[in-house]
Amino acid sequence: MKGVILAGGAGSRLHPLTTVFNKHLLPVGRYPMIYWPILKLRETGIKDILIVTNNEHLRSFIKILGQGEELEVKLHYRIQSKERAGIGDALLEAKEFIQQGKFIVLLGDNLFEDSLTSYLNAFRNQKEGARVILKEVEDPRRYGVPHLDKVNSKILSITEKPNIPMSTYCVTGIYMYDHQVFDFIEKTTPSSRNELEITDVNNMYIENNLLEYDIFMGWWIDAGTHESLYKANQLVFERQIEEGGH
Ligand code: G1P
Repeated sequence: MKGVILAGGAGSRLHPLTTVFNKHLLPVGRYPMIYWPILKLRETGIKDILIVTNNEHLRSFIKILGQGEELEVKLHYRIQSKERAGIGDALLEAKEFIQQGKFIVLLGDNLFEDSLTSYLNAFRNQKEGARVILKEVEDPRRYGVPHLDKVNSKILSITEKPNIPMSTYCVTGIYMYDHQVFDFIEKTTPSSRNELEITDVNNMYIENNLLEYDIFMGWWIDAGTHESLYKANQLVFERQIEEGGH
């Protein structure tokens, strides 16, 4: 299976840290943020990885990561041509790289504890469709929020950044898709924030009864704000201390 890491965007919630630097190259623990999703994919055996970023920062990514030699993965790069056009649009850039079959997408600012192996195995056993990972969070209003039918283990719908959340869960930026995702993205239209929303894409999978989910067990954080970036650093440093410092 191949992996895609989305690492573009303006990082506006992290200004002025992101005036010069790409958010995904800011430090988390002793590495740039982007190391963590790469290492999480490598842990599952996924080594063929596409990084989608913006034109302005591509050279910095290449300078830091090269073709992935040091991390023992094979990195490919692709530029998201439109500024701020959303996760859906960024993912369209992966169509050529994926070609066919199932794949996993990570948002490059999502940092987490669990190994993805069991979720990927469940997805491999799924005949078709998509799979998302949910996490219980304190304030779901910042995220895509699922309306859940827990008895039947089904997501009934997902709402992006709702004022009144239908559950205490968020849809994390860990997505597993089959090739239909590209057709679904092409059917979406820009939202009020002028982005192709991944939530709209996931809702199309729901309408076709093709979306499954798992619930994340360990810690998970979207390091897109000053506060959550600080928290991510804390969690990573604590883990490094537990593991003996490296
Ligand atoms: C994005 C998605 C949202 C998801 C979140 C996870 O939000 O749109 O559905 O819950 O990532 O990190 P954004 O980072 O664009 O605010």
